[in-house]
Amino acid sequence: MVSDYEVLELPLDGVETPKLCLDKALLVSEIEKLTEKASLDEIRVNLRNIIDSVNDESVTSKWILEPARRYNGNCYEIDPEMFAKNLQQIIDTYSLDRTIYYLKRLKKSMVKVKTGRINDINLNRWKEYEFLYTDSLWIEKKRERSGRHMASYWGNFIPQIPQQMMYRFTRQGEYVLDTFSGSGTTMIECRRMGRNGIGIELNPSVVSQSTELIESQENPYQVKTEVVQGNSATIDYEQVLKERNIDKVQLIIMHPPYFDIIKFSENEDDLSNANDAEDFLDRLQDIARNSAKVLEDDRYMCLVIGDKYTGGEWIPLGFQAMQRVLDTRQFKLKSIIVKNFQDTKGKRSQQELWRYRAMVGGFYIFKHEYIFLFQKH
Ligand SMILES: C[S@@+](CC[C@H](N)C(=O)[O-])C[C@H]1O[C@@H](n2cnc3c(N)ncnc32)[C@H](O)[C@@H]1O
Repeated sequence: MVSDYEVLELPLDGVETPKLCLDKALLVSEIEKLTEKASLDEIRVNLRNIIDSVNDESVTSKWILEPARRYNGNCYEIDPEMFAKNLQQIIDTYSLDRTIYYLKRLKKSMVKVKTGRINDINLNRWKEYEFLYTDSLWIEKKRERSGRHMASYWGNFIPQIPQQMMYRFTRQGEYVLDTFSGSGTTMIECRRMGRNGIGIELNPSVVSQSTELIESQENPYQVKTEVVQGNSATIDYEQVLKERNIDKVQLIIMHPPYFDIIKFSENEDDLSNANDAEDFLDRLQDIARNSAKVLEDDRYMCLVIGDKYTGGEWIPLGFQAMQRVLDTRQFKLKSIIVKNFQDTKGKRSQQELWRYRAMVGGFYIFKHEYIFLFQKH
């Protein structure tokens, strides 16, 4: 899809990138003039002057738009370092043809938005999405803390997981279904990112606590977020959507208990109280199959899960769960992401004990979990 207005999402990583508001029309006309020039040196000098002028805080740069004129898409908003990097890349180019090609590409990135069908990423400015992950190994040093999250909820996931998934696999205003809503991390991120969300959670007290928290999160895009109390293995997803006049959801996020590693409640419907690993996997497979009915075709589902250790044996619960999702024949596997986790709650003495046990017992301590990414057929 191509349109000629400009949208660039701000990252939610808690660090606001400083943005420059440059005079788009002026820059575009300058670039057009430069593409007419026959001398590489002349182009370089002009580009160097633009970088210097934009970065020189002591003078009022003609490229920077005055606040009063920042309307109607006049503004080319960009991080100053990124802008200088883009121009420098052109300056460093050795052939005139290549330089002209880069100049035209720069102009295109300023005037045209090109997004795919399933997200709002402007592919003409793809380099600027530095905060988006594209590798299968995620090392997260810390939890992102800018939303109203309940960091104390044992067994929650870090907000970066739903953020990354929603950026890559949804557009603003679309619907996200979280089949194990817990403390509402996904719903909170939905509010911050302008996605509508429905969470399913078994435990009524967790539903009311998380709802209160979600409601306290600002809702600048006026999206709908709701946590429905129910058993995600048996709930009628089509009915849940129908009651809310929703046809389909565009992303499913599943973060189940990792079988019995954390016992979430006494309720026998709770997946953490499954009779055994087979029973756990059977129920998870039902959830994948049932919820797939309300997922739009070609859209994504992500399953966040870790392995477990029982009776001196590593149980590859993650891969077993992945296989059960594939066995529903509703999805194809798109990626296996390995994400580190830090157990910040464990005391140092306990961590040392585990190191000792690992050495004696001939095993390695869990430090990772998986994000399995599927696409509906
Ligand atoms: C791993 S936690 C999810 C945490 C969530 N991602 C967050 O960030 O807070 C799993 C949640 O699933 C809930 N749960 C367990 N069995 C369930 C079931 N059958 N239906 C719905 N929710 C269930 C538990 O109460 C728990 O809150």
